[in-house]
Amino acid sequence: MWDYNNKVMDYFLNPRNVGEIADADAVAEVGNMTCGDALKIFLKIDPATRTITDAKFKTFGCASAIASSSILTEIVIGMTIDEAAKVTNRDIVDRLGELPEEKMHCSVMGMEALQAALGNYAKEHGLTLPSVTDEDADDHEGRIVCKCFGVTDVKIRKVIELNHLTTLAQVTEYTKAGGACGACLDQIQQILDEVNHVAKKAAEPEMKPASGDFSKLSPVKKVLKIQEVIDREIKPALERDGGGIELLDLDGNMVKVRLLGVCSSCVNSKLTLRKLVQGKLHEFLSQDLIVSEE
Ligand code: FES
Repeated sequence: MWDYNNKVMDYFLNPRNVGEIADADAVAEVGNMTCGDALKIFLKIDPATRTITDAKFKTFGCASAIASSSILTEIVIGMTIDEAAKVTNRDIVDRLGELPEEKMHCSVMGMEALQAALGNYAKEHGLTLPSVTDEDADDHEGRIVCKCFGVTDVKIRKVIELNHLTTLAQVTEYTKAGGACGACLDQIQQILDEVNHVAKKAAEPEMKPASGDFSKLSPVKKVLKIQEVIDREIKPALERDGGGIELLDLDGNMVKVRLLGVCSSCVNSKLTLRKLVQGKLHEFLSQDLIVSEE
């Protein structure tokens, strides 16, 4: 038995807004009975005010799926569709207080159902909603990454970004992807690396172009600056092609490096050193630096 808090237990044992809305304006169903969880959500929307006046759900799932779906209907009733489009699985978890990590996919299923319903509504009425794309509608495209659970790259990317996920285990807990045969784990890891690399880059302050101050730095600071340019501007480009680089020494203006991986045996290594490595050091530090390979 999972260790649920009192609020989750209350919404599981006394779920609010269970059922269907016969004349619903927006409906969506997500999940799959064969995978263990499914949720159908019904929304009544006032077209004049774009407000959700009623919401109901039917779910096939565990206690946390019932509690997540139920509290989601309470969250969105009274919201405009623009506000509801911004509701994420984090809002569901926050309103419930907490969910066990292994059950986070239930909150994600709620967010998915809501966005699918709003996506369908927006498509039908020619509207644009924040955070909702055509891919959120029932006929979403996305590339299936996990065949066992039918999870797309779009969903995995979105859940990683929203919840700041960093490990494969977390992606499985939040989306189920990777939780059966494991054949998709490499692809999930690739998406994790991509998303987190982009996020890390965005959080770092921009590197400034060379200002002429480099020559006034102490030798230690010069080495640190060169290492920073290598790490941020050069290494990622080389690693994308299976190569790498390490800084060996700084002797006056001579920067000694070693190319690694496929770069070490590449016929274009001299060009890489001059164009990419030396080019970036000139751009961000000093035109006087000369790069050589040891
Ligand atoms: S393809 Fe993802 S677990 Fe099987």
